[in-house]
Amino acid sequence: MKILVVGGGAREHAIVWKLSAESPVSEVICAPGNPGIAKLASCVPVDPGDPDALLAVAKRECVDLTIIGPELSLARGARDLFAAEDKLLFGPTRDVARLEWSKAFAKQFMSRHSIPTARYRICNSADQGLKTIADGELGFPVVIKADGLAGGKGVTVAEDRASAERAVQRAMLDRQFGDAGTTVVVEEHLEGEEVSFLAVCDGNTALPLPSAQDHKRAFDGDQGPNTGGMGAFAPSPMFTLDVHGRVMREIVEPVLDGFRAEGYEYRGILYVGLMLTSEGPRVVEFNVRFGDPEAQVVLPLIKSDLSVLAVDAASGRLRAQSCIVGTEPHVGVVLASGGYPGGYEIGKQIDGLDDAEAIPGVLVLHAGTAMRDGKVITNGGRVLTVVGRGSSFKEAIERTYRAVEAIEFEGKHVRTDIGKKALR
Ligand code: AMP
Ligand code: GLY
Repeated sequence: MKILVVGGGAREHAIVWKLSAESPVSEVICAPGNPGIAKLASCVPVDPGDPDALLAVAKRECVDLTIIGPELSLARGARDLFAAEDKLLFGPTRDVARLEWSKAFAKQFMSRHSIPTARYRICNSADQGLKTIADGELGFPVVIKADGLAGGKGVTVAEDRASAERAVQRAMLDRQFGDAGTTVVVEEHLEGEEVSFLAVCDGNTALPLPSAQDHKRAFDGDQGPNTGGMGAFAPSPMFTLDVHGRVMREIVEPVLDGFRAEGYEYRGILYVGLMLTSEGPRVVEFNVRFGDPEAQVVLPLIKSDLSVLAVDAASGRLRAQSCIVGTEPHVGVVLASGGYPGGYEIGKQIDGLDDAEAIPGVLVLHAGTAMRDGKVITNGGRVLTVVGRGSSFKEAIERTYRAVEAIEFEGKHVRTDIGKKALR
């Protein structure tokens, strides 16, 4: 089978790495890919946010299946477009992907189907937003979320009334996130441990993948600004069998049933961002694709063929499948450019990649990299994800950081505490 993978980050590198080792897969193409992916797949310079261009590649290359990394192509209706031309694509339609591209829709969907989440108000004007905060009925801290896609930057956890008001003003009056902030969700702040849980879905059946924990803040100890993710580990020791059962029963199955009841089918990856509160698991967010950096630590744990799971999910016949997953601890550390998530410089030469890759049990996944005169250079905020496994989290952490230290580039920024939570 010939597969097109869409995207060019470390998440897509992990997807391509997994597919490349599977016997049903004869060839992988990646749009646009990156220098690390280019060692495993042929890369085509196509914008992942352009569904028409992606369809043209899929047709020209006669691919059997397309797997989407980033949400934008799904929000722009890639699945709908491919389906109209009888091309198989793993990911939900635009209407279903609304679960990710509209936080207001996601909250209302959860209300309609009694899925546990934080209490909230949807505000369509700044006046309404400011009144909701002034009333204080959701307490403080309070969370302000731009409704639309804002590249992970649309959420503010506000400690007090003044900062909550500023967040509403920035989104709704200053239009910091453009149209994405025309509507805002104000929601109750949840306390607990944050865990990511993914399932492969075909509309009726959901096959669970290993749980993971992301590290969204820029600095050690979960300090500093939110980023696209500075590292992850899997599986999460917090995600006990009891929690797993509750999440499947109270969240994942109701999402699939809810969409069916409303005339849709959820086909693709369902990503549930959870807060494990003292009252049980609560949904913080949904994504309609693999998480980044979660995919980098979850995919190595999947023993079944992703290619087969994706084809069966996209075709609505997952029931006959099983998904075999491992439990060996995996830790993924993101190497970022100095200054990220703010401004940063690119074009710095990266040394030590071969030494890092030579460490047994280590995987070096590219994201913001490029080639210049035969050398790999930095070309983005998140440059690489280094993944290491071990028989324990202690061993996985040691091995991963040994590889992280082998890699050098000017301004390299890493968190030094990825995986520590798993040791508690
Ligand atoms: P989201 O994009 O909705 O996942 O929000 C980004 C981050 O903000 C989450 O990963 C959480 O760390 C935090 N967050 C969002 N909603 C809440 C909430 N209701 N309570 C506490 N933290 C939250
Ligand atoms: N790790 C969170 C995300 O992929 O959105």
